[in-house]
Amino acid sequence: MQTKIAPSILSADFSVMGEAIKKLEASGADLIHCDVMDGSFVEPITFGGQMIKNIRPLTKLPLDVHLMIEHPKTQIKFFADAGADIITVHYKACKKISDGYLEETLKLIRSHGVKCGAVVNPDVPVENIFPVFPLCDMVLLMSVFPGYGGQKFIPEVMDKIKKAREYAAAIGKGDMDIEIDGGVTMENAGAIRAAGANVLVAGSTVFNSKDWKATIAGLKK
Ligand code: DX5
Ligand code: ZN
Repeated sequence: MQTKIAPSILSADFSVMGEAIKKLEASGADLIHCDVMDGSFVEPITFGGQMIKNIRPLTKLPLDVHLMIEHPKTQIKFFADAGADIITVHYKACKKISDGYLEETLKLIRSHGVKCGAVVNPDVPVENIFPVFPLCDMVLLMSVFPGYGGQKFIPEVMDKIKKAREYAAAIGKGDMDIEIDGGVTMENAGAIRAAGANVLVAGSTVFNSKDWKATIAGLKK
């Protein structure tokens, strides 16, 4: 499968976001990963739908909106209307509300014509989201605990990537996107791809590098 790189704008200078978006596209990014944090599901607050709306006209790349928020169902319409191409929601945030909430939220995302995905934290077994694999365009396996960029990759996630890829293939969705988020570097990208992930989020690795184009190309190689 072709590897896609999704730079996370969490690591951008928010005062010049538009320039960062254009530079990411020119540097060969495949998606723009947008980390939405609410100060409750995770400690920090980042941005909401207004950011998505403002960057939407600046790029043709898909906007990959990662919602790290409580009650995600209440916010889907805002991010869909703002121009998200894919919205992912956390298993943990949904499970707190009810057993059916994750599935309902994924269906709601789809009803807006937007791709959807479920996310698990490093301490949640990937098997917990197997029941919603048939509904998902993508699954996102966190390789750090969400909230901050620049953390270290948790190696135990490698095994979950393999399990996710095997299960996706077993249900006839061998080409499903499996995204890894957190601590992706030039050093570990090859192993992450070999384990079966095809979408790599990279925040600090891209933004802290001098040559974004070379870094994005390197993460794919
Ligand atoms: C963490 C975010 C990540 C983060 C990744 O909560 O979901 O997308 O920005 O940053 P790096 O690549 O620096 O670990
Ligand atoms: Zn993210």
